[in-house]
Amino acid sequence: MKALVINGPNLNMLGKRNKEHYGTLTLKEIKNLIESSFSNVSFTFFQSNHEGAIIDRLQNEEDYDFLLINPGAFAHYSYAIRDAFELVKIKKGVCHLSDISKRENFRKIDLLKDLADVYITGLKEESYIVATQKLIKLLKGEIKND
Ligand code: DQA
Repeated sequence: MKALVINGPNLNMLGKRNKEHYGTLTLKEIKNLIESSFSNVSFTFFQSNHEGAIIDRLQNEEDYDFLLINPGAFAHYSYAIRDAFELVKIKKGVCHLSDISKRENFRKIDLLKDLADVYITGLKEESYIVATQKLIKLLKGEIKND
């Protein structure tokens, strides 16, 4: 199985960001955790601070079985990323480290939420793990969409 994991702006700074919200792991450590948790999946990881670069990546997903994205703050205001995410045909998940529903009002909107097959927030690095588990189960037909 092949998977694409996309991380949006400022997620390259994990480890230096607010630990209450985002935990203590760096993005590299999260990548290692994901890879070691799913030895039967071949992951490609992509991080960018640039909206257009993320859109370009979303438009090139056909080589993968599923995609997981943490859009960072773009979740709250990027209609362009929403439009690109809507066009993704493979199974797709959205995750956030923090529980955005319990933070500032501007974070409560997630423009990708209703388009996602799997949606997990608030579990820090475990959000990636639980979302990936659910995407695999979805692909195997073991569960239905969120
Ligand atoms: C985040 C939540 C966003 O509101 C924030 O801008 C981030 C990280 C999360 O993973 O909790 O950069 O996506």
